Amino acid sequence: MIIARSVPELRAASSGPVSFVPTMGALHAGHASLIRLAAADGVCTVVSDFVNPLQFGKGEDFENYPRDLAADAELAEQAGATVLFAPSVTEVYPPDFSTTIDPGPLAHELCGLHRPGHFAGVATVVVRLFGLVQPHRAIFGSKDYQQLTILRRVNQDLGLGIEIVGAPTIRDEDGLALSSRNMYLSPAERIRARAIPRALQRAAEIYAAGERDAVLLAEVSHSVLDGLTLEYLELRCSDLTNYEPDRPAVLLVAGRVGNTRLIDNIVLDPASPTQAIAQFATKEFA
Ligand code: PAJ
Repeated sequence: MIIARSVPELRAASSGPVSFVPTMGALHAGHASLIRLAAADGVCTVVSDFVNPLQFGKGEDFENYPRDLAADAELAEQAGATVLFAPSVTEVYPPDFSTTIDPGPLAHELCGLHRPGHFAGVATVVVRLFGLVQPHRAIFGSKDYQQLTILRRVNQDLGLGIEIVGAPTIRDEDGLALSSRNMYLSPAERIRARAIPRALQRAAEIYAAGERDAVLLAEVSHSVLDGLTLEYLELRCSDLTNYEPDRPAVLLVAGRVGNTRLIDNIVLDPASPTQAIAQFATKEFA
């Protein structure tokens, strides 16, 4: 695996069709699963490792976001990456950079309500990275469900022609979705954070048993989320339009445990109503 720090180094290191996994580093097994998926088709697999200042708001954790290039390089190489692109801020945003991508109304809902400008920052860096990396395919995690949905929209609206692949959420033994931010949690907070997967599991269970009422599905989740300062708990259609009982849906949750902001979600599909509980099947998060 080659570590490229500049655009010329990136261009020299990559060839042919490219599968691309954008990340902000602090790589964990969730990122590794995306890289393995990208590398599975045998083409050049580029992983970007860039903490994007544009997507952090004032008072958020940009300065303190975990950075460890040596550890990232080891994990990315083991997962099958061909190139790790780890540019500086000025490489990605030269002094005369002035374009911003506005992804439209969805960017102001759900996480966007609590993080103004966040999704414009995400869309801007991802489109910039797409331009630099020139991938034919890009892999994103379903853990960041709204991000994935917005990036599909941007790709379609701008006619970028990239195949956007959504990958399943990788969870820890206790059900908590892996996240670079989990390392901020104290042991006591970590125990409180388990309420999130437990809440999603509860909703998935009553959905599998036939419940389709939006209020009841949200209520059963809400009742176990008391260790959390809840930002939102919303049931929507899987394209993030308003919930309709007979269409695939997603239950999304965001909240704070102490100072750490966590998000998670579960897809609920009337065509395969037990599928969501399978994700939690071997685990008990009580
Ligand atoms: P980051 O949080 O580093 O995540 C990089 C990719 O890994 C995203 O597609 C995210 O959804 C995925 N991911 C994170 N946790 C996961 C888990 N537990 N299971 C599966 N996939 C997981 O998301 C970003 O970075 C940035 O916003 C980025 C898209 C790189 C733009 O800066």
